[in-house]
Amino acid sequence: MSGLLSTGRTHDCAALRGDHIEQRVTLFGWVHRRRDHGGRIFVDLRDREGLTQIVFGPDINAAAHKLGDTLRSEYCVGISGKVISRGDNVNAKMPTGAIEVEVEQLEIFSESATPPFAVSDDDRLETGENLRLQYRYLDLRRPSFQKNFVTRARIGYIARKTMSDLGFNEIETPYMVKYTPGGARNFLVPSRLHPGSFYALAESPQIYKQLLMCSGFEKYFQITRCFRDEDLRFDRQPEFTQIDVEMSFATPEHIFSTMESLMSALWKDVLSVELTTPFPRLTWQEAMERFGSDKPDLRFGLELHDATDASRGCGFRVFEAAAVVKGLCLPAEHAKGLGRNQLDKLTDFAKKRENGGAKGLAWVRVAEDGSWEAPFAKNVTADAKAKISEAMHAEPGSLMLFIADEWDTVHKVLNSLRLHLRDRFSLVPDNAPWTFLWVTDFPLFEKNDKGTWVSSHHPFTSPRAEHVEYLLSDPGKVRADAYDLVLNGNEIGGGSIRIHRPDVQSQVFEALGLSEEDAQAKFGFLLEAFKYGPPPHGGIALGLDRVAMLMTGAASLRDVIAFPKTQRGQDLLTQCPTPADEAQLADLYLRHRPLPGDDSNTD
Ligand code: AMO
Ligand code: AMP
Repeated sequence: MSGLLSTGRTHDCAALRGDHIEQRVTLFGWVHRRRDHGGRIFVDLRDREGLTQIVFGPDINAAAHKLGDTLRSEYCVGISGKVISRGDNVNAKMPTGAIEVEVEQLEIFSESATPPFAVSDDDRLETGENLRLQYRYLDLRRPSFQKNFVTRARIGYIARKTMSDLGFNEIETPYMVKYTPGGARNFLVPSRLHPGSFYALAESPQIYKQLLMCSGFEKYFQITRCFRDEDLRFDRQPEFTQIDVEMSFATPEHIFSTMESLMSALWKDVLSVELTTPFPRLTWQEAMERFGSDKPDLRFGLELHDATDASRGCGFRVFEAAAVVKGLCLPAEHAKGLGRNQLDKLTDFAKKRENGGAKGLAWVRVAEDGSWEAPFAKNVTADAKAKISEAMHAEPGSLMLFIADEWDTVHKVLNSLRLHLRDRFSLVPDNAPWTFLWVTDFPLFEKNDKGTWVSSHHPFTSPRAEHVEYLLSDPGKVRADAYDLVLNGNEIGGGSIRIHRPDVQSQVFEALGLSEEDAQAKFGFLLEAFKYGPPPHGGIALGLDRVAMLMTGAASLRDVIAFPKTQRGQDLLTQCPTPADEAQLADLYLRHRPLPGDDSNTD
């Protein structure tokens, strides 16, 4: 066995300070950087904690110096030697900058090929993300990056501890499950033992956790992976982790206070921040009306104002013809910065489909005397101008930005604009507190592209008791006992109280146009379970990756997932997904079909 390995390291690479001078130490790590200076070799030795400068010299130890000369970046080594003062060369930027270690013994544990990029924070942005993902294990060597994963591990630990202390039991549920329609698109797994049949990878433990309530476990949680074949974004991965929770005999209040306890414990332990509870709440309707979003960022104002009534009969066709006229009122200090050119760009932004697809953006600059400067100013009566300015809370110098359209479009576009202006004018103060929010009372149903009612969440979501009577007569009016937890404008969790009464469930299926037979075919096993005294129950799932992203200040989920997928769902490190060969497919009774446009493979 190696000599230094068996003695063991005495310190990590961030530990040594002035008061260690004269001590003999052993360090393990990687060659971060090396410099030769007149016969002496200086190396920054790196481990997961940090850096220590070590120095080789013929006068310190000739053998170590000779071997030290062969060191290159990312060699993995152990050294022992004496801590000395750096004297006048103290490096105040390094926590270990007061000292260096004179190497008396060097052991090369393993050599490194020339790495494809330097393991350093300085160069990180210059290296393309694809290359970094291909060599993920090297990118992960950076201590600053590793901190994200240390934090994430701590979050998992505190979550388990807190939930356990609150009386919840962690129970595992299957990943390979029955395909049930609705919700996110599933990944399918072919069954070898049942040719032609497939498992789905669980998009969440939803159905199983409800069955666990039927089993009488009362308080369940699980930190679990979920799989969804969705279009990916910075805050979406095809496999992600939930802190999944379900409780029997629960009202929304029980769920809220449980989650508030969990968040308070996490923030206190991980960030030393005391959260104020209970978190504020907005109904979905109010969140949409005031911010245009069901996950509003409340760290800044710039609320939407409604000018629909004020613009009735105003003389401007665009406003008069629209179902809804609403807008944002940008205060003078920011309005000044938006010239004609920028307003044209803002109009293009509002028209983009991904931003809501507005037909146009009507802007009005309010002068010192309250008069309007706008392309259509002459079309609007003086009386209407005053009313609209008032509805918009305009002041001299304000810039009003209006969208006139259907309710959905107006809110979608104004939300996009509001967030765009947030980023452009840095409207969130640097020291803004963590801003949590419960959004409650989501609509139970929404219309799909074809105009039919579908569940906004899933068909077991409970309508609010006072809305049950509208289930069949006016489905659009029905609000659900469903809620999301929002943090700084990000949806970090969502859940609901579930239906446990067969009569209510039947009405929901009917409203969804689902016949008794359809419901049986799709969810028969759950409906059967609900025949045997199901307790009232409800729950929630938190997106652990999103929580970790926000707590670490990371820009993307990829920075808190050790081996993430790209936007196109690939793992560049292992180069997956990969094609299956004919023999594998034959085992599964599957056959290749030609790709669209490929006629070479037909049979
Ligand atoms: P929902 O689908 O809202 O609810 O998911 C809960 C939370 O999981 C996170 N999340 C994601 N994170 C990363 N990548 C993704 N692709 C992704 N999709 C969702 C979000 C979200 O708030 N079974 C229900 C919960 C319940 O009703 O109890 C569910 O899965 O932070
Ligand atoms: P138009 O009458 O189409 O020339 O539009 C006059 C102004 O109103 C232009 O500045 C348009 O960008 C704006 N506009 C057009 N349609 C809308 C709309 N639906 N909502 C808000 N502004 C609009």
